[in-house]
Amino acid sequence: MQTVGAYYHSLLQNETLNPFDLRELFIQQLFLHSHSDFYLHLNDPFQPSDTFFSGIKRLRQQEPIAYIVGSSEFYHCRFHVNPSVLIPRPETEELIELVLKRTSTWTEPMNVMDIGTGSGVIACTLKRSKPTWNIGASDLSEKALSIAKKNAKKMKLKIDFRLGSGVEPWLTSTIHGVVSNPPYILDKNTIDSNVLMYEPHLALLTDEKTVLYRPILELFVTHPELKFVAFECLPDWKAWFESFLQTLPIPLSVQFSEDINSKVRFAWIERK
Ligand SMILES: C[S@@+](CC[C@H](N)C(=O)[O-])C[C@H]1O[C@@H](n2cnc3c(N)ncnc32)[C@H](O)[C@@H]1O
Repeated sequence: MQTVGAYYHSLLQNETLNPFDLRELFIQQLFLHSHSDFYLHLNDPFQPSDTFFSGIKRLRQQEPIAYIVGSSEFYHCRFHVNPSVLIPRPETEELIELVLKRTSTWTEPMNVMDIGTGSGVIACTLKRSKPTWNIGASDLSEKALSIAKKNAKKMKLKIDFRLGSGVEPWLTSTIHGVVSNPPYILDKNTIDSNVLMYEPHLALLTDEKTVLYRPILELFVTHPELKFVAFECLPDWKAWFESFLQTLPIPLSVQFSEDINSKVRFAWIERK
């Protein structure tokens, strides 16, 4: 019987498959946890299953690997995903880093909400990193929320999940922070075709009228205890943020920062 390593290399030579995606298929078939685990099993015997062959077929059709294997790694943890949720992106790991860095010296109790939680990656990662924080998470999609709950249950994390649009589930709650990666793409022509074909449009697309940034920022007015809001965004939104904040009756500062590709991707808003 051939080995994992030999089979992996023969597939890479004969097919135009992404090595990362291919390793994910092996990880699923061999019940491994990570890519480093995969390299530890290169000399094991390997017998591909029907699921493995079907995975190869789906990869050839450009289906995202995370939906094929039903999971995706985020901030050193594996999260369940399905086509009801956005596949977590590395930029969102950077959003988490930003929040952890900016709040590293804060010692007071915090109630922090993840609005538009999707698979729950922000809520679960914050709770793992900051166990003393009370974390809430909400989404408009019931199917997405059930995936987020499944992830929190698997990690044994206590998170207050609520179904609802925008800030509506939290209007009567005490909120000290919001960390959100809402839908923020204005032009669907800027999205890769396989993303548009497979990932939920509710998670990707918005317009200036329905954008979640607006009601979340208005929480600074209705919730005097709110200390910070951290968003994922795009450079397109920079001017919008600056002018919208001017319309609010309280002084707020916004600081933008770039992702690893030097693209403006994050907005940190706090009281002046
Ligand atoms: C870009 S995805 C982010 C998912 C996850 N937080 C992440 O970072 O991977 C945006 C999420 O917002 C949800 N959403 C869209 N419109 C919403 C609304 N009006 N109220 C609440 N959630 C909404 C979508 O269902 C989707 O799960």
